Amino acid sequence: MRLPDSTRDVKIPTNPLDMVIGQEEAVRMARIAAAQRRHLLLVGPPGTGKSMIAQAIAFLLPKPTQEISVLHNPENPERPIVEVREADKIKSDMRHERGLGKLVDVRDIPVIAAERLGYRCRRCGSISASSAVVCPTCGADKYRGASSPFDDLVLSASGEKRDERVRTTRTVGGREEAVAYERADGYSVRVLSEKEVRELEGMRKHRPRKVIVPLSRNTFVQVTGASETELLGDVRHDPYGGHPEAGIAPYQRVVPGAIHEAHQGVLFVDELSTLGYLQRFIFTAMQEKRFPIVGRNATSTGASVRVDGVPCDFILAGALNTNDLGSILPALRSRILGDGYEVLLNTTMPDTDENRVKLAQFVAQEIVKDGKIPHADRGALEIIIRDAKAKAKMIDGKGDALTLRFRDIAGMLKLAGDMAVIEDAKEITAKHMEYAVRKSRSIEDQVRDRYDSWWKAGMSDYGVKKESGRSSEVA
Ligand SMILES: Nc1ncnc2c1ncn2[C@@H]1O[C@H](COP(=O)(O)OP(=O)(O)O)[C@@H](O)[C@H]1O
Ligand SMILES: [Mg+2]
Repeated sequence: MRLPDSTRDVKIPTNPLDMVIGQEEAVRMARIAAAQRRHLLLVGPPGTGKSMIAQAIAFLLPKPTQEISVLHNPENPERPIVEVREADKIKSDMRHERGLGKLVDVRDIPVIAAERLGYRCRRCGSISASSAVVCPTCGADKYRGASSPFDDLVLSASGEKRDERVRTTRTVGGREEAVAYERADGYSVRVLSEKEVRELEGMRKHRPRKVIVPLSRNTFVQVTGASETELLGDVRHDPYGGHPEAGIAPYQRVVPGAIHEAHQGVLFVDELSTLGYLQRFIFTAMQEKRFPIVGRNATSTGASVRVDGVPCDFILAGALNTNDLGSILPALRSRILGDGYEVLLNTTMPDTDENRVKLAQFVAQEIVKDGKIPHADRGALEIIIRDAKAKAKMIDGKGDALTLRFRDIAGMLKLAGDMAVIEDAKEITAKHMEYAVRKSRSIEDQVRDRYDSWWKAGMSDYGVKKESGRSSEVA
């Protein structure tokens, strides 16, 4: 294995897990988590790939098969009903609606129905498209005086009245029964029995719904701020208090939380420890796989609304720094361990030819991802390797190793890349890289040199937070 002449020659994998460098154990666990739907706790310093691994789990998961809706509850509007539909059911509902009744040609239905649906001209009796207001044969106005005020009426685009559905009776085997005719595509008409009409109406309007978690969705949901409503959902305020005429019905004001949006996907909680008391809710949600949505602002009219049993069957991917392990709710941690895995990320990898090539792959990935900087030549790669080696020694006390704390290297690379762009250079060369290494020897690094022993005395995992603390000490 030898270093490429340019990162241009590096083939970047398409599977995001193959893009993760130096974390073989974590990647193995991520594959298992995706296949077996287990939780994963990723522990390690910043910039080692925790977010990247969590995203890859979502990438490996099958597409969601369920959609979650809330339905209006006529008996008690403030207790909307949750409904979960499988993909097959959604499709068959649609097909069913389309498939109800029987399609016949408009020429095969009673004249009166054909007239009122807008196909048949009352004057000359010829058939034309129902959208044609004027009969193309005789020029008569097809809809004039067409409707009685007691029918279901719709206004056509031009403002003329025509019936959407005509109800009448027919005689089958000497018995009279109710029948309805509905306009369908082209010259076809749907013939529906009374029972089918009721079924259709039931599907169409007696069950107003709001889809809160659609079938087609992103399976990676990240919790950023420690906000209760973001995590658990909410019911919006309505100034009219959901008044039947003036207000917005409660079911329409229901907003899902991240735990619901992550249903059948990955809920990624970065810095799990900063979530504080909210960890308890995550714990409960993981246990029950369902969590109610309630109005969370006591002064809002949403506060009286509650939807019970909203599904939230997610894979939890939690990330945290090593020294924050203590601030995880013990119950949550044992829940994860009981049904998942904990992985400590590596901070270095041995300095071998193979791993140097992997480092080159990392550089290529970063360049492509950035999109604004040119590729790096071998000279630049050699400087990066030298620096990765120095960092492994300095931060983790490991000789003959390459650092996996990639955030710093990515920053340096961008600086070098910007230099190359400004100089109109075709590639990032050793010169640009040297400059970036020197520049990125920030105040922290200088302090690190000065307080070398203190640094080595176990502060290595504090990462960015403590580093900035240290720099203020110098100032
Ligand atoms: N192990 C890794 N392999 C390849 N790239 C990495 C790795 N770790 C970090 N990176 C790069 O650094 C960026 C930030 O990493 P991230 O996954 O957010 O780290 P963390 O979540 O541990 O802080 C990633 O988008 C990726 O570009
Ligand atoms: Mg991250």
